[in-house]
Amino acid sequence: MIVIREGDIDEVVSLMQELPEFINPYSKEELKKRLLNANLMLVAETDGYLVGFKCGYERDVGTRKFYSWLGGVLPTYRKMGVAKMLLKKMEEWCRERNYEVLEFKTFNEHKGMLILAIKNGFEIVDVRYSEKDDRKRIVLQKELI
Ligand SMILES: CC(C)(COP(=O)(O)OP(=O)(O)OC[C@H]1O[C@@H](n2cnc3c(N)ncnc32)[C@H](O)[C@@H]1OP(=O)(O)O)[C@@H](O)C(=O)NCCC(=O)NCCS
Repeated sequence: MIVIREGDIDEVVSLMQELPEFINPYSKEELKKRLLNANLMLVAETDGYLVGFKCGYERDVGTRKFYSWLGGVLPTYRKMGVAKMLLKKMEEWCRERNYEVLEFKTFNEHKGMLILAIKNGFEIVDVRYSEKDDRKRIVLQKELI
């Protein structure tokens, strides 16, 4: 059985290191710096093993928008509904705290994430091009009210 619960920075760091898509995983220090404001770190666990996470914070302080920053599920546990459970839990947590919008960014090549988002009520609100590389950043939002 998959259980979703609040986790901590060490758990998020260890999961990120196991995810093949995170080529340069954030360090504990970087996570701490970003997650200073109101934040949520969720982990998915089964039989004592961590299999996924999702973390976010109030990026634009004082607004009713919550930013879902990072997340992922270990390859063996994909397509079993884990990311959907993590997302539902984050939405629930945001609604309880009166956030009106849940936002996240992803890259065009992260098809799984885009499909998950569209299937769960997110809309594309922006596409950003960066001079750093030619990857398209897709900004998605979901109204929570
Ligand atoms: C994207 C990711 C989080 C999805 O996790 P998951 O646990 O496999 O997703 P779920 O099983 O909850 O899927 C939810 C829905 O999205 C669909 N979906 C998920 N990944 C998909 C994929 N690669 N292709 C097509 N559909 C996909 C599922 O079929 C499911 O649809 P349903 O609700 O109709 O059954 C996971 O693939 C992952 O960790 N990817 C790498 C990290 C990443 O891309 N992070 C995001 C960076 S912003």
